[in-house]
Amino acid sequence: MNTTDLIKRTIQFVKEKLEDAEGGHDWFHIERVHKNALLIAKNTDCDLTVVELGALLHDIADSKFHNGDETIGPKTARLFLEGENVSEDVIAHVVYIIENISYKGGNFEKKFSSIELDIVQDADRLDAIGAIGVARAFNYGGFKNRALYNPEIEPVTNMTKEEYKKNNAPTINHFYEKLLLLKDKMNTETGKEIAAERHRFMELFLSQFYAEWEGVK
Ligand code: ADP
Ligand code: NI
Repeated sequence: MNTTDLIKRTIQFVKEKLEDAEGGHDWFHIERVHKNALLIAKNTDCDLTVVELGALLHDIADSKFHNGDETIGPKTARLFLEGENVSEDVIAHVVYIIENISYKGGNFEKKFSSIELDIVQDADRLDAIGAIGVARAFNYGGFKNRALYNPEIEPVTNMTKEEYKKNNAPTINHFYEKLLLLKDKMNTETGKEIAAERHRFMELFLSQFYAEWEGVK
């Protein structure tokens, strides 16, 4: 099968799989990550098929919604690609990307590295920052029934999931714990450039947010 057909069929498969996904991880997230990945790949020497498949399949089954089972995503992707007669080296690479893409806090060690993983990871991170990042964060916070902000709770940068629950931390905390840190974790030059702009937008958003909170603007 030619690559264009494979990508079309992958898009179809992912759309169907994510039909009931929540707002932060729906098909449109995948579509944005796919676009970001193509944009970064344009300036980079890489295997475009692996990049596209990695971007399209990276959230095919999020462990958060499968009782923490981190093997479901890679397994689902592998089964699909085997059914499409994709070569084993491409399948193995895409599966590695899915296994290694996630931001798991500071002490997560990448077991694998490739330019294709770097690109897909940057593409996914770009969708967590900027205006879309702000929207996704508050959408997630709403899903968890969290407050927007609480001036009595000092934002901290290293809050664990358990502490979020225990402290009932507001969504604003997520900026300090993750979103504002992402620009310094970008892998590619293009990713870094786009992240810098989106970072500035988040800083602007936060200063406006605090000003409005105080009623001064
Ligand atoms: P990814 O799928 O990009 O690895 P996650 O699954 O951790 O990221 O998060 C999906 C979206 O939900 C992201 O935009 C992320 O910023 C947001 N999110 C994750 N955890 C929180 C949180 N505690 N508060 C607010 N937003 C969150
Ligand atoms: Ni994602």
